[in-house]
Amino acid sequence: MSDKEVDEISGTETTGHEWDGIKELNTPMPRWWLWTFYGCIVWAFGYAIVYPAVPLLNSATPGVLGYTSRGEYAAKAAEAKAEQAFYVEQIEAMDVTEITANEELARFARAGGKSVFKVYCSQCHGSGAQGASGYPNLNDDEWIWGGTPDAIYTTIAHGVRYEDDDETRFNEMPRFGADEILSTEEIVAVANYVGRISGGEADAGLASEGQALFAENCSACHAELGVGDADLGGPALNNGIWLYGDGSIDALVAQISDPAHGVMPAWNKKLGDAAVKQLAVYVHSLGGGQ
Ligand code: HEC
Ligand code: HEC
Repeated sequence: MSDKEVDEISGTETTGHEWDGIKELNTPMPRWWLWTFYGCIVWAFGYAIVYPAVPLLNSATPGVLGYTSRGEYAAKAAEAKAEQAFYVEQIEAMDVTEITANEELARFARAGGKSVFKVYCSQCHGSGAQGASGYPNLNDDEWIWGGTPDAIYTTIAHGVRYEDDDETRFNEMPRFGADEILSTEEIVAVANYVGRISGGEADAGLASEGQALFAENCSACHAELGVGDADLGGPALNNGIWLYGDGSIDALVAQISDPAHGVMPAWNKKLGDAAVKQLAVYVHSLGGGQ
C-alpha cells in the first residue's frame, strides 16, 4: 500500500489535496478513453506524413503520397473528357439523321444539346423551347423551315436572315401596304381570307374576295390554302399558330401591310459542328420533329 490516504466510502485513493475538509478522489481515466486518445495521436502523425498537412509560407508540406484535391479533380475531368471524346468523334463523323437513328449516340446528343440550349438558345426560345411572340415554339408541329433532323440542323448552323453567314436561310415577304402592291381594301380582304383558313374571325364576303388575291399574291410562298412551304420559309397560315400577333384581322392587316421578319443567329462558327448536331438532335426530340 502507498502512503496515500484511501477514502473510506468509495475505497478510492485521494490525491492528498484537501479544501475545507473536502478531499479530491484520484479517479483514473477510463482505459478505453485513453487508448482512443493515444490512437488519435498516432493517426495524426501518420496523416501528417502521408498527406499535405503542415502549413508553409505559400503552400503546405506535400506528404509522401503527393495527393492534392486539384489533382484529383483534374484526373476526374480528364476521365470524363476521354469518355465524351469517344461520342463526340462519332457525332462529328455522322449526319444528324444517322445520329437520331443510333439510340446510344442520340441519348448522348440529347443531353449535350439540352445543356447547350439552356446557355445559348433559351433567352430567345424560352427555357422549355416554348417560344414567345416573334420567336417560334420548337415543341410543336409547325416548322417554318422544316422539322426533319437535317432541316433543323441547317437552320441552327446557318441561322435565318443572318447577314454574317453566306448560307443563311433567307426569304422576305413583300411590303404589300408600305410599297402599295395592294390597296387597303385588298389587304383587308386577303386578311379576312387568312382569318377564315386559320379558323379565326372573318367576314365571309370579304374572305371570298380575298381568296383570289391570296392565290395571286401569297401562295407562291405560303402555298395553296396557306399550308406553308418549308423550303421557302413561308410559315403555314392555316393552323392558328402565329409568330406575330394573335391572328386577329388587325394583326393580319399589320403583317401584310408592313411585315415583321425574325432574325436567328448562325451557330456553326461559334459552337462548332458537333455542338450544332447535338442541338439539332435535342430540338428534333422535343415533340414536333418530323
Ligand atoms: C436572338 C434570338 C435567337 C436565339 C439566341 C436563337 N434563336 Fe432560334 N430563332 C430565332 C428566330 C427569330 C427564329 C425565327 C426565324 C424566322 O422567322 O424564320 C428562330 C428559328 C429557329 C428554328 C426554326 C424554327 C422553325 O419553325 O423552322 C430553330 C430550329 C431554332 N431557331 C433553334 C435555335 C437554337 C437551337 C438556338 C441556340 C443555339 C437558337 N435557335 C437561338 C431567334 C433566336
Ligand atoms: C416572297 C414570299 C412571301 C410572300 C409572297 C408572302 N409572304 Fe407572308 N410571309 C413570308 C415569310 C418568309 C414570313 C415569315 C416571316 C418570319 O418568319 O419572320 C411570312 C409571314 C406571314 C405572316 C405572319 C405569320 C405568323 O405566324 O405570324 C402572315 C399573316 C403572312 N405572311 C401573310 C401573307 C399574305 C396574306 C400574303 C399575300 C398577300 C403573303 N404573306 C405573301 C413570305 C411571304
